[in-house]
Amino acid sequence: MKKILILGAGIYQVPLIKTAKRLGIYTIVASIQGNYPGFELADKVYYENTTDYGRILAIARRENIDGIITTGTDVAVITIGRVCDTLVLKGLSFEAAKLATDKLKMKTCYEEYGVRTAKYRRVSFDNMNLEETLEELQLPLIFKPVDSSGSRGVVKVDSPREFMTARDTVLENTRSNYFIVEEFIEGEEFGAQAFVYNGSIQFILPHGDYIFKGDTGVPIGHFAPFDLDSEALEDTKKQLKLAVKAMKLDNCAINADFIRKDGKTYVLEIGGRSGATCLAELVSIYYGYDYYEKILLTALGEDVDFTAGDGTSPEDCPGTPNASMLLMSDSDGTIASQECSYPDDPDVVEVQFDFKPGDPVKKFHVGPNRIGHVITKGETLQAAVDKLRDVLDHINIDVK
Ligand SMILES: Nc1ncnc2c1ncn2[C@@H]1O[C@H](COP(=O)(O)OP(=O)(O)O)[C@@H](O)[C@H]1O
Ligand SMILES: [Mg+2]
Repeated sequence: MKKILILGAGIYQVPLIKTAKRLGIYTIVASIQGNYPGFELADKVYYENTTDYGRILAIARRENIDGIITTGTDVAVITIGRVCDTLVLKGLSFEAAKLATDKLKMKTCYEEYGVRTAKYRRVSFDNMNLEETLEELQLPLIFKPVDSSGSRGVVKVDSPREFMTARDTVLENTRSNYFIVEEFIEGEEFGAQAFVYNGSIQFILPHGDYIFKGDTGVPIGHFAPFDLDSEALEDTKKQLKLAVKAMKLDNCAINADFIRKDGKTYVLEIGGRSGATCLAELVSIYYGYDYYEKILLTALGEDVDFTAGDGTSPEDCPGTPNASMLLMSDSDGTIASQECSYPDDPDVVEVQFDFKPGDPVKKFHVGPNRIGHVITKGETLQAAVDKLRDVLDHINIDVK
């Protein structure tokens, strides 16, 4: 029986853990302690910080694992790199993982390889002269931690008067002693899921993003297909391939964030793991296979084929249109009741509530404040999106 080590026990790892179990793989889960739903699904649990690659490596050795993987989170990617390199397992390298989990290192390699990306500066937290450091950048700006995710600590800044408060927000959300400031790109945000295996890109699937406008944008839902004309599609693929090369990603899922402005695709960031917010599901529905299964089998070094479920190649696959949206609360409080009164429907792929009545929830600001999600599909994208709206209208969550 093969043994997999899954990093994280949260909502975005639960489908991965369930799939591993279904495939008959011995499933070890490592995560910090907490009320995480993945623990009870695993064959074995280690309560360990997934960013502590020394300790995770010791577990991996002791367990003699065949593979290590996560989905939907960047923080554990560094550990995957370290363990894969040391134990010669299939996955991204430590070097690639370092580039993928530090936004400054990422931007630096983009610059080197000519990847189109927002102009930026590195800033130390002890820098007291931000105006001078940032004078060559054009307002508005984005202040962001180099090591966070889910839009935590990312702030849009419109004038120098906001510099210090923005810096303080970043400081609260990082373990680093420096951060990054970028020019704000005013455009349409979108993304792509992709997979690189044995150094070659297996598919690239652009998707639309629904964005919640808080302190900055927070992706709260997605849809595919995303309508790009052939020139825009080529430009996007070119930037993605260049970024993958720059980051030396050779064996991992890819979660790309882009912004399109004046007909050009800018790379915001690329993660060496599949996306959160229903993005692995988007790939599964679109191509008609279980993407979690593919992710697991690649981590075990198996021969994995990314041909779509209907036998077509990823480029030729007509794809099943689908859409998703997070459920959110507009206040802090406790869930008094929650229900979905939408009738059973094959095009309603999933309605998930993350919590139970009585559980505390937060007003939505950032991705981790989610309280559930809805995923729909349809003959056309419009049908999937209409269904999504309709289901959302039938969901009632009462927060007191
Ligand atoms: N240069 C930028 N221009 C415009 N919006 C940006 C820029 N950088 C980040 N954002 C916004 O902030 C969000 C989070 O930033 P991102 O770099 O993707 O960090 P995270 O790892 O938190 O997702 C993005 O989804 C986007 O809405
Ligand atoms: Mg992002």
